Amino acid sequence: MSHESLEKFGPVKKNVVEDNLESDESIMAGAEEKDAAHTNELDGSQVDSAPGKEADDASEELEWRPEYKKKAIRSYVIRAGRMTEGQKNAFSRCWPQYGLSLFDGSIDYTEVFEREAPTVLEVGFGMGASLLQMAEAESDKNFIGIEVHPPGVGRIINCAREQEVGNLKVYMADAVDVLTDCIPDNSLDRFQLYFPDPWHKKKHNKRRIVQREFMALVQQKLRVGGLIHLATDWHEYAEHMMEVMSTMEGLTNCAGEYLFAEKPDFRPTTKFETRGEKLGHGVWDLLFTK
Ligand SMILES: C[S@@+](CC[C@H](N)C(=O)[O-])C[C@H]1O[C@@H](n2cnc3c(N)ncnc32)[C@H](O)[C@@H]1O
Repeated sequence: MSHESLEKFGPVKKNVVEDNLESDESIMAGAEEKDAAHTNELDGSQVDSAPGKEADDASEELEWRPEYKKKAIRSYVIRAGRMTEGQKNAFSRCWPQYGLSLFDGSIDYTEVFEREAPTVLEVGFGMGASLLQMAEAESDKNFIGIEVHPPGVGRIINCAREQEVGNLKVYMADAVDVLTDCIPDNSLDRFQLYFPDPWHKKKHNKRRIVQREFMALVQQKLRVGGLIHLATDWHEYAEHMMEVMSTMEGLTNCAGEYLFAEKPDFRPTTKFETRGEKLGHGVWDLLFTK
């Protein structure tokens, strides 16, 4: 990743965020707060202390902002959170090596990774420990992570550089936008989405990322024979995922119709999963092929 891309990253991103702030539709009401409280369990920052518009979009306060386009419903809340000095410095030191920009458009994996290899895409890697572990364990594959939470992005690129991980790139952007604009059709070998925000309340269910439209986009990006792997610790969300996935034409449940899968060996326990386990939650994995 060139220095030029880093320079481009700031100004482009700022315009997009301002564009979003002009849209009433794209800013959800402060009532979303409590339901989103789990998001910041990942880095321990306080969620309920900043109600209202800013709580849903703290982009203005961030030095390093996620990239996204205007949309009516978003599956996440952007929060200032706590950025350690290490995470902040990571953007200047490690972004040129690990960062990809939504605004660079369609990606050529061979050029970006400087080799031909199967490509795995993970959406919502949180603080990134499990994605990094997978990238190290499966060095024969290319890994692309997408996350909107700046401290998580800062952390993963920092650790990746320390551990000299060479098969990982990240977008700090909205997954819907990246899938639509950057990921070529029929190109992914594996798509993974682990413990997406459950948006528990009925009125917030529409913010869940697993919806028919989103999964159809994922299916379009997957090569024939590729794998879709979802996991959640929220039973009702697991049932919703199963319903969506089982009724999509062209996908086959690896575990058998309407059955949840055993956790595959390649998926490490994630940070959010560990938190759920402490609260006594179950875990449901879904594995489908195209
Ligand atoms: C509950 S956390 C789970 C994190 C991690 N997978 C784990 O298991 O520890 C869900 C993550 O998805 C991210 N997220 C939600 N919607 C997203 C989107 N549209 N694009 C990118 N990231 C998203 C959130 O920022 C959050 O960090």
